[in-house]
Amino acid sequence: MADEVKKRVFSGVQPTGKVTLGNYLGAIRNWTPLQQQYDCLFCVVDLHSLTVEQVPAELRKNTFELTALYIACGLDPARSTLFIQSHVHEHAELAWILDTVTYVGELGRMTQFKDKSRKHADNINMGLMNYPVLMASDILLYQAELVPVGKDQVQHVELTRDIAQRFNARYSDTFAVPQCLLSKAGASIKSLQDPTAKMSKSDPNENAVITLTDDADAVRRKLRRAVTDSDTSANCVRHSADKPGVSNLLNIYSLCSGVSVEQAERTFEGKGYGVFKDAVADAVISVLQPIQAEQKRLLADKAYIESVLRQGAEQASHIAQKTLAKVYRKVGLVPKIR
Ligand code: TRP
Repeated sequence: MADEVKKRVFSGVQPTGKVTLGNYLGAIRNWTPLQQQYDCLFCVVDLHSLTVEQVPAELRKNTFELTALYIACGLDPARSTLFIQSHVHEHAELAWILDTVTYVGELGRMTQFKDKSRKHADNINMGLMNYPVLMASDILLYQAELVPVGKDQVQHVELTRDIAQRFNARYSDTFAVPQCLLSKAGASIKSLQDPTAKMSKSDPNENAVITLTDDADAVRRKLRRAVTDSDTSANCVRHSADKPGVSNLLNIYSLCSGVSVEQAERTFEGKGYGVFKDAVADAVISVLQPIQAEQKRLLADKAYIESVLRQGAEQASHIAQKTLAKVYRKVGLVPKIR
């Protein structure tokens, strides 16, 4: 396939806190195969992180760590564009223009805004409200057609579509209208302590969440403590709506081992939760260990990470400049006099 006809994919993760097993299985891992088929941009969205209070030195550190993690997870800088959002100033500039075609009411209705306003009641800043417009800017700046995200981001991608269509209707065709690429596998890994809630990096209970930096002991300990139920029958290890804890562990096991859920149910027939949980731990550890080793190796080579980021920002800027210039022209801004 020639480069021109490849569809473009854009996605991003905030360099905030720790990346969870849920983020990995539900998002990053599903991005790697897309690289063969599409023109992909994967972004570390540092500007988004500023919507909640950050410790500057930690934000910087997390940004490098997430970049290394992207590469360690198989995102290939030779194939895809890996970059930091703030390195391409057009993101913030396009967001301003998009603000002018987005309604306050729309942003007030966003579920994530309402959730975060509740969680950070002392800091309901304009950035928190504007978050989805910056995300729309990320996507539209690159004319991305596909946006692989988890379920919780679907509403934001839908808003992005509305903004793109509204802009196109008002100023003539300018933006590609993107679509969500929802992965079925791993789309919703649940909390180990409350299997009706998503595994979330902001969960205050650390036993609820496996992070990609957890060592083998931590993974085993958290899985042993994972909430199941009081079923002691021979087929207690089974996927079922009335067994959310066990079903979540089966999903994790299946995604990490490559064994289907049905096959796993047969494997653990007659076995109790103790044996099962240890097997889940083994499967998770075997996925995490190579990623952790590679991330560590990459982080020791700062010059390499920087070279990836330099090249990524150059490639991204090239596309971003074109889109922004077109947008500025369409809305009637006078081009800079040269
Ligand atoms: N809001 C996304 C999240 O929290 C991260 C994000 C920012 C993003 N910009 C994006 C995802 C653009 C996809 C496309 O997960």
